[in-house]
Amino acid sequence: MSNQPRHIAIIMDGNGRWAEAQGKSRTYGHERGAETVRAITTYCAQHKEIDRLTLYAFSTENWKRPKIEVEFLMKLLEKYLKNERATYLKNNIRFEPIGDLSIFSKSLRAVIDDVQKATQGCNGLVQCLALNYGGCDEIVRAANTLCQRGELISFDTLNAQLDCSHDVDLLIRTGGDQRLSNFLLWQSAYAELFFTKTLWPEFTADELEAIIKKFKTVERRFGGLN
Ligand code: IPE
Ligand code: IPE
Ligand code: MG
Repeated sequence: MSNQPRHIAIIMDGNGRWAEAQGKSRTYGHERGAETVRAITTYCAQHKEIDRLTLYAFSTENWKRPKIEVEFLMKLLEKYLKNERATYLKNNIRFEPIGDLSIFSKSLRAVIDDVQKATQGCNGLVQCLALNYGGCDEIVRAANTLCQRGELISFDTLNAQLDCSHDVDLLIRTGGDQRLSNFLLWQSAYAELFFTKTLWPEFTADELEAIIKKFKTVERRFGGLN
């Protein structure tokens, strides 16, 4: 039986380099990157074997970037969610954020909350956006919550307390680098990793389909023997 990639996670990297290569500002690359988000989400929503798509949109480390770029990304996120609200509903997509949202502005949090609530009843694809997300931060927050409740840490209690309790089947990073950059560290314990040189604004549903095809041929042993 071939593998089905039920949970796909993507490190969407290369927006800045894509824009700079054509003499444009990095922010232009982020705008084009948002269009790729739309295309890839639509593809996944149309393929019923895919339950969940988790996209790395802003890391706990991305605050180190120039203020102007960070501010642009926050505005872009707000605009994207407002614009896509109707599309989520039309395509039966449930929106879920992960990460520490407490740091975001009131207006951004309100939009995140609104889209999450509006799509709560959708039972097609779950599109999960990782926002101010870091795998280390997620594990520390979860462990602290359990400690405060006086609960013991076990695989099940910690897993349940994480922002995302779903194992990743297929993890893709665009942009040519081969690292996780603090993305879904726990959930990727047995993920199949695929790295492509394609920069995120140029990543297409066709390339995703080709990666999924390769994924389906991999023998996943999970430490056992086949
Ligand atoms: C990924 O693209 C988007 C975010 C991290 C927000 P980058 O902005 O990292 O683009 P490169 O890697 O510098 O080209
Ligand atoms: C990872 O990309 C974060 C996101 C895609 C949101 P980065 O560009 O921030 O990662 P590094 O700095 O190359 O590791
Ligand atoms: Mg990058």
